[in-house]
Amino acid sequence: MKITKAVIPAAGLGTRVLPATKAMPKEMLPIVDKPAIQYIVEEAVSAGITDILIITNRGKGVIEDHFDRSQELEETLEKANKTLQLDSIKDIHKLANIQFIRQIETKGLGHAVSKARTFVGDDPFLVLYGDDVILGDIPASKELIDAYGTFGKGVIGIKPVSEEAIKKYSSMKIEKIKDNIYKCTDMVEKPQTKEEMFSLYSILGRVVLPPEIFDILDHTAPGAGGEIQLTDAMKELAQNVGMTAVEFSGTRYDMGNKLGILQANIDVGLTHPETADGLKEYIKELAAKL
Ligand code: UTP
Repeated sequence: MKITKAVIPAAGLGTRVLPATKAMPKEMLPIVDKPAIQYIVEEAVSAGITDILIITNRGKGVIEDHFDRSQELEETLEKANKTLQLDSIKDIHKLANIQFIRQIETKGLGHAVSKARTFVGDDPFLVLYGDDVILGDIPASKELIDAYGTFGKGVIGIKPVSEEAIKKYSSMKIEKIKDNIYKCTDMVEKPQTKEEMFSLYSILGRVVLPPEIFDILDHTAPGAGGEIQLTDAMKELAQNVGMTAVEFSGTRYDMGNKLGILQANIDVGLTHPETADGLKEYIKELAAKL
C-alpha cells in the first residue's frame, strides 16, 4: 500500500532550548535560512507524501503562517525584482496539503500522535518528529516507506548513539535481517541502567505506523517523565507483531538541543552557496586559535 499521509508532532515545549523557544517554536529555528520544519516537510514530500498533519500548540501559530501564502510579500518582492527571494517563498504553501490540529495539553509524543486518528483513518502513516532534521542523499522517510512496502510491518528509523545519549532516548532490541535492515521485537524508553538497555540503537525521528497504533495509544499509560510515550505504544506493537528497523543513511540533527542546532547550521552553512566560502574561512581562522 502506498503511504501518502504524514504526521509531524510539533507541540512540545522545547524546554532544552530556552530562552530561544519562549515565544518561538523550536520547529521554526532556522538552519542557515530555512526553518527546521520546512526541511522536514520537504523530506516527507520527496518520499511521496501528499497530505501532512502538523500537531501544534498555543504559541505555535507562526508555523501555520509559514506554510500559508504571503501575497503581500510576494507582490513586494516581485515589484522590487528580487527574483531569488521570491522563488524561495512563493511555493512553500504548495509543498503539500498541510493541515493543523492542536494538542491542548502537552502530555507527550504518544498523546500528540493520538490526535491524528481522524486524519489517518485506516491507512499506514509516516511520523516525522518535528525537531529531528535528517539530511542526506536518500530521504530517510523513503528508506522507511520502502521497508514498509517490503516487510508490511511498522518501521522505526534507528541509529547507534552513545550510552549517555541512550538514557535520554530509547533502546531497541534488534536482530539483523540484512544490510541496514533489522527485526525489532522490543524497546524501552529512556533506560537508565545497563541492565535496562537492549542495545545502543535508538529511534531517531522517523517511524511508519499501522493504524492499529491508535487503539494501543488509547490504553497506553503515562511512562517516562509522566508523559504518554509513543515508544511505549510501539513496544506493544514490536512485542506482539514485530516491527522493522532501518538504520537510515542520512545525518540526523537534534534541533531540540543547543549543540544539534549549531551542528546543523555549520554543516548546511558549509554547503550553502551564499555562506560556504565565508564560513570555511571563518572556521579555519577560528580553529587556528582553539
Ligand atoms: P521532545 O520530547 O523532544 O520535545 O519531543 P519537547 O517536549 O519539546 O522537549 P523538551 O521540552 O526540550 O525536553 C519530540 C517531538 O515531539 C513533539 C515535540 O514538539 C518534538 O517535535 N511533542 C512532544 C509533541 O508534539 N507533544 C508533546 O506533548 C511532546
